[in-house]
Amino acid sequence: MAPGAARLALPALLALIGVLLPGLGGAQISVHPPEATIPQGGTVQVNCSTSCDRTPILGLETQFTKKEVAHGSHWKVFELSDVQEDSSPICFVNCGVQMTASMSLTVYRLPERVELLPLPRWQPVGENLTLRCQVAGGAPRRNLTVVLLRGEEELSRQPAIGEPAEVTVTVLAGRDDHRANFSCRTELDLRPGGPGLFQNTSAPRQLQTFVLPETQPRLATPTIVEVGTQWTVNCTLDGLFPAAEANVILTLAEKKLNSTSLYSNDSVLAMANVKANSQKEDTQQLACVVTLGGRVQKKEEDVVLYSFPAPNLTLSEPEVSEGTVVTVECEAQAGATVWLEGLPSKSPEHRAEFQLNASAADHRRSFSCSAVLIVSGHQLRKKQTRELRVLYGPRLDETDCPGNWTWEEGSQQTLRCQARGNPVPELKCHRKGDNALLPIGDLRPVKREVAGTYLCKARSPRGVTSREVVLNVTYHQTNTTIIIIIVVAVAAFLGTVSAAAYLYNRQRKIQKYKLQKAQEAAAMKLNTPATPP
Ligand SMILES: *[C@@H]1O[C@H](CO)[C@@H](O)[C@H](O)[C@H]1NC(C)=O
Ligand SMILES: *[C@@H]1O[C@H](CO)[C@@H](O)[C@H](O)[C@H]1NC(C)=O
Ligand SMILES: *[C@@H]1O[C@H](CO)[C@@H](O)[C@H](O)[C@H]1NC(C)=O
Ligand SMILES: *[C@@H]1O[C@H](CO)[C@@H](O)[C@H](O)[C@H]1NC(C)=O
Repeated sequence: MAPGAARLALPALLALIGVLLPGLGGAQISVHPPEATIPQGGTVQVNCSTSCDRTPILGLETQFTKKEVAHGSHWKVFELSDVQEDSSPICFVNCGVQMTASMSLTVYRLPERVELLPLPRWQPVGENLTLRCQVAGGAPRRNLTVVLLRGEEELSRQPAIGEPAEVTVTVLAGRDDHRANFSCRTELDLRPGGPGLFQNTSAPRQLQTFVLPETQPRLATPTIVEVGTQWTVNCTLDGLFPAAEANVILTLAEKKLNSTSLYSNDSVLAMANVKANSQKEDTQQLACVVTLGGRVQKKEEDVVLYSFPAPNLTLSEPEVSEGTVVTVECEAQAGATVWLEGLPSKSPEHRAEFQLNASAADHRRSFSCSAVLIVSGHQLRKKQTRELRVLYGPRLDETDCPGNWTWEEGSQQTLRCQARGNPVPELKCHRKGDNALLPIGDLRPVKREVAGTYLCKARSPRGVTSREVVLNVTYHQTNTTIIIIIVVAVAAFLGTVSAAAYLYNRQRKIQKYKLQKAQEAAAMKLNTPATPP
């Protein structure tokens, strides 16, 4: 027989006797406390007492270490130590007959481990999240509850069942759950009568939730790019949560581009300046990859790299004498079509030319040639221009220098006379007779002295040409003559008047003198002795 079975058999037997022989001699047996809750491995004192009228034999039946710590004639106190599990120690007394009374001893134990199992690193918003809490140990289990928590908020409260006990709860993850702390707590409730409520809490685990929309990012890029040029690529995705945690990678031909990301409330924008590393025509794939919460949204776009130099426009000679035949030629790359200005129709070829007999009118004439290339349905155009310089002799015709100017004296006029030619001729105009220079430019006012016939000579290394220019100045001749006549008449009149006045004056002075002489003579006669008349 196993020792455990023996331990159980004896109290059972004693109890049976007690039941069979109740109230013998009216004696009673009691045990105090009738129930006790102690920590595992703890000690407890049990008092067995009886009302037996004889000297009783008292004892305590238990499998644990016991020690009698005090006694009286009708009672004994035993101390049980190293109590490892729940049991029901039995007090017994022999008072003629055997009597027993049992107590209930409960052992409690705090959980050894309370753990919230790891959460996913990132949890999509709107999807179910299952929280699992494991509890190892802990007794008595009937008093042990597991509480799952978000922060301080209770999500679920369940009994701990199994070893280890696992408790789960499923919640719908929201944006509010981003960076929320989840944990679980055990509650060993030994109230009332017991030592109280014991709580143990797991280490918290922080959750990260995210939203990555099902839509593709928007990738903004030219789809055709000229080899060797730089261009800009933008990639955006809206509706992200938390946008700042999104990571955007731009790649070209599977090579990561150096990009900058800008974040707003719920979107991200990545930008990169790209210079195709390829120097030849090629089609490369551009990709934008947005990663959030371990999930990916991707957009790809093909970029065609083309090469299209401007057409080559040549003049057989850039500077020619007039009357020389010049060949204008334009050539573009194969596959392009050129349009040479001056040719009546577009050439379907990549090359075109024509000839012209250079005239003075062609000096500084600009020739242009356009080339058109179609790349992936896009029409591209490049243009080249060249200027022709024609050397021609001096020109001085009616339009360059009008030959007859007739102006009113005193009016304000502009005399225009300029010789043409390449190189620019030197122009000199002299008046016939006195060699005076022709006043070219603004004349304000026109004076009559400039009138005359001039000979203009335009001279350049390419020759000399001359032209006569007549400049007439009109004025009101008759009026002037009258004025002169009047002036002369007035002058003559004034002359006559003054001459008359002079003569008169002179006559008066003479008379005055004669009178004076006469008076002097008379006076002399008075001074001499009077001679009677
Ligand atoms: C449980 O809590 C008690 C205090 O209440 C502490 O002494 C014990 O170490 C805790 N146990 C665990 C597993 O955390
Ligand atoms: C979660 O816990 C961490 C550290 O334990 C703390 O910094 C953070 O503020 C907590 N989050 C919330 C929402 O309380
Ligand atoms: C070019 O034009 C000039 C003047 O019109 C003419 O004299 C000359 O013969 C022309 N030259 C040719 C090659 O046609
Ligand atoms: C110059 O012009 C005037 C008036 O406009 C005219 O009377 C005169 O005959 C012209 N002279 C010449 C040489 O053309």
